[in-house]
Amino acid sequence: MSQAVSILGSTGSIGVSTLDVIARNRDKFHVLALTANSNVQKLAEQCSFHDAACAVIARAELANDLTAALRKLGCRAKVLSGTEGLLEAAGLSQAQIVVAAIVGAVGLGPTLAATAAGKKILLANKESLVIAGSLFMQAAKAAGATVLPVDSEHNAIFQSLPAGWQKGLQACGVERIILTASGGPFLNTPASKMAQITPGQACKHPNWEMGRKISVDSATLMNKGLELIEAHWLFGADPDLLEVVVHPQSIVHSMVAYRDGSVLAQMGTPDMRTPIAHALAWPERIEAGVERLNLTRMSELTFREPDLERFPCLSLAYAAMRASASAAITLNAANEVAVEYFLDSRIRFDQIAAVVGQVLERADGTMVNSLEHVLEIDQTARSYAMERIREIQ
Ligand SMILES: NC(=O)c1ccc[n+]([C@@H]2O[C@H](COP(=O)([O-])OP(=O)(O)OC[C@H]3O[C@@H](n4cnc5c(N)ncnc54)[C@H](OP(=O)(O)O)[C@@H]3O)[C@@H](O)[C@H]2O)c1
Repeated sequence: MSQAVSILGSTGSIGVSTLDVIARNRDKFHVLALTANSNVQKLAEQCSFHDAACAVIARAELANDLTAALRKLGCRAKVLSGTEGLLEAAGLSQAQIVVAAIVGAVGLGPTLAATAAGKKILLANKESLVIAGSLFMQAAKAAGATVLPVDSEHNAIFQSLPAGWQKGLQACGVERIILTASGGPFLNTPASKMAQITPGQACKHPNWEMGRKISVDSATLMNKGLELIEAHWLFGADPDLLEVVVHPQSIVHSMVAYRDGSVLAQMGTPDMRTPIAHALAWPERIEAGVERLNLTRMSELTFREPDLERFPCLSLAYAAMRASASAAITLNAANEVAVEYFLDSRIRFDQIAAVVGQVLERADGTMVNSLEHVLEIDQTARSYAMERIREIQ
């Protein structure tokens, strides 16, 4: 039977790749609801092409424009809008699968709503786990939701773990979880040149095509830091178990090392449609439309330690993961603000880490036990980040 899929953030890079995989597997999946923030035209075209039943635009003032664009294309999809619309779409009873592909902390509310509704969640929105890992995993357990990682590293780890790993990694003989990092476009850029990096250069990733925010995070290595925290919550991994190695070719997507010396890796060409297809069909395998890996045509696979001095964001994330849940929320919020200002050319590339570092100093170790508390810490960190930015501008 064909499964109904809702995609939160369908107009973004992950959303578009997911729709491509669905289109290749129409006998198995169909689209139920699609959402965007402001890209009315693209959302309307997607809804029309995939015959979606529901279209949601987060910016409520664009609801009439969306209705007009849909009707012009002959699409009768129901239109919802604003935060309420996103939450409603996330929990629609007809959906079996919800793809969480909104970028940033703003994705947490809808992702949690889908989780509470007991859906199969394809999690791309890593920020949900970074800022509310404990709440999120508890909500999934309570509602019987299945959380499947779409992030390529976590998907690779998931594929390299044995059945029953949920009972405890050490009990399964896991000694280390090794996340690979491409190193981003500035892997070999000297520290003295970091200040001149432009948003255009930062968004040009050598191996992956992604949205602008995650592209900058990949360039600062903050993305790898967020992924460490994501892995910590997703796999119940002690921070000491988690390691990062730089692997510029992005062929090995991550690895799990076992007590007997075995290291299991998942490999493939760098294309997000592989982890998306894996998570959509799990435990089966479906066509993803990706270029096949040809080992004999590959020049070499190399691995090296990350340079924490040139990429201080990774150290900051390690520190936040070890410190407290509120430190992780603070790290993420400060980073989101700093990246936005960098993308607007209002601060320099090297100032992203400086802002995050200063804001992180203010984080305390208070317990975080509700969504309201998460959002309060997030807001405080954002205000403080903007203050710091005003000082350096
Ligand atoms: N891209 C990748 O290869 C990749 C890999 C691993 C993990 N991820 C994670 O997946 C998530 C999505 O990444 P992406 O690269 O696909 O991002 P993206 O291309 O920037 O797309 C973001 C999506 O979220 C929507 N959105 C943005 N702000 C919103 C708001 N305030 N309210 C509601 N919706 C909003 C956007 O709508 P509009 O189009 O209307 O702006 C768009 O549909 C991120 O958490 C990222 O870390 C991405």
